[in-house]
Amino acid sequence: MTNIRSFSAKPEDLNKIQFEITVASPGRINLIGEHTDYNDGFVFPTAIDKKVILKFRKNQTDYFCRIYSETYQKGFEFHLDKPIEKGQGWENYILGVVQEILNLGAKPAGFDCLIESKLPVGAGISSSAALECGMAGGINALFELGLSNLEIVKLSQKAENNFVGSNCGIMDQYASVMSKKGHIIKLDCQNLEAKYIPADLQNCKLLLLNTNVTHNLADSDYNSRREECEAAVKIIQKEYPEIGSLRDLSFEKLKNFRNKLAAKMYDRCLYVLKENERVLAAAEQLKSGNLKSFGELMYASHEGLQNKYEVSCPELDFLVDHSRDKDFIYGSRMMGGGFGGCTINLIEEDEIETYIKEVSAAYFEKYNIKLDAISVSPDQGTEIFKN
Ligand code: GLA
Repeated sequence: MTNIRSFSAKPEDLNKIQFEITVASPGRINLIGEHTDYNDGFVFPTAIDKKVILKFRKNQTDYFCRIYSETYQKGFEFHLDKPIEKGQGWENYILGVVQEILNLGAKPAGFDCLIESKLPVGAGISSSAALECGMAGGINALFELGLSNLEIVKLSQKAENNFVGSNCGIMDQYASVMSKKGHIIKLDCQNLEAKYIPADLQNCKLLLLNTNVTHNLADSDYNSRREECEAAVKIIQKEYPEIGSLRDLSFEKLKNFRNKLAAKMYDRCLYVLKENERVLAAAEQLKSGNLKSFGELMYASHEGLQNKYEVSCPELDFLVDHSRDKDFIYGSRMMGGGFGGCTINLIEEDEIETYIKEVSAAYFEKYNIKLDAISVSPDQGTEIFKN
């Protein structure tokens, strides 16, 4: 008999009994530094003020676990002492985390968990990382397992790699757990050294525009980009064995491979090297308050993602292009894995309302799709409350 049983009616007792732990687990944005995390590069993300809320309580059993999502109005149950099999869709983020916790040798017991999400799925703001890290943080707190925040980050990433099958880097989980309110993290993914830079955006705000499209092969295309980078590193290693990842590669050395790497592979590498440089430059511009220069780096990042890394899509390009002649928008780019999801825009606060109306109308006229605008602020990573 299978271990995972899905149901749709909310078990009545979940409404009544008090929960012991509440976790507020945020989504993330990334200001610049895309597809660099799994290449040991730099990223510039932060958690946002939009979160998944998870409530936990022990249910006095040894192994029986019950999860219910208010958002999907669906739930599922499973036993910790039976093999953790794959479930459907969102269930796997949770089951993957449970599996990774068990793999660490930790011994949680039976629990109930109620989930409510304020994060749009598929928008590229990492609702999946929020779910994983919130689940891991909640189980850790409920059973006092003693896992550190970094262990929670890493096991949540592993859950996504091993159980969900997306070969993601560490950025989303790191940002969801480790962010500090009002700051952006300059994260070096090679050694996980993090610098927290105050997000002084002056008269500007960060506005996400959700294309509401997800192009089919998003997961497999994402994985294949990662494979291309790893294959390039293998070729480069034949001449430079000391190069462990694209992070170790200089522009000068890369040039020697102009004719030894397939043209697309070369472009991918060139993009990654340039994007790493842009992250470092952008962090400096933010520190010195040069938001216009910061914005130009965002546009350059998009250009690279569109033409060299080829992970954008017409809808994202349309939104970025639409922003170009507006002097109240300093920068715009696709955000996250790509192939759909959001653009992130650095825009003067006073203009936001008018712009949302204008760009939504233009987008609808072009694609017949409703655009969603989400205004976000840099916020605290995972917060855990004991009731
Ligand atoms: C997704 C992945 C991250 C990162 C971004 C692209 O969000 O989960 O690890 O690779 O795409 O920057």
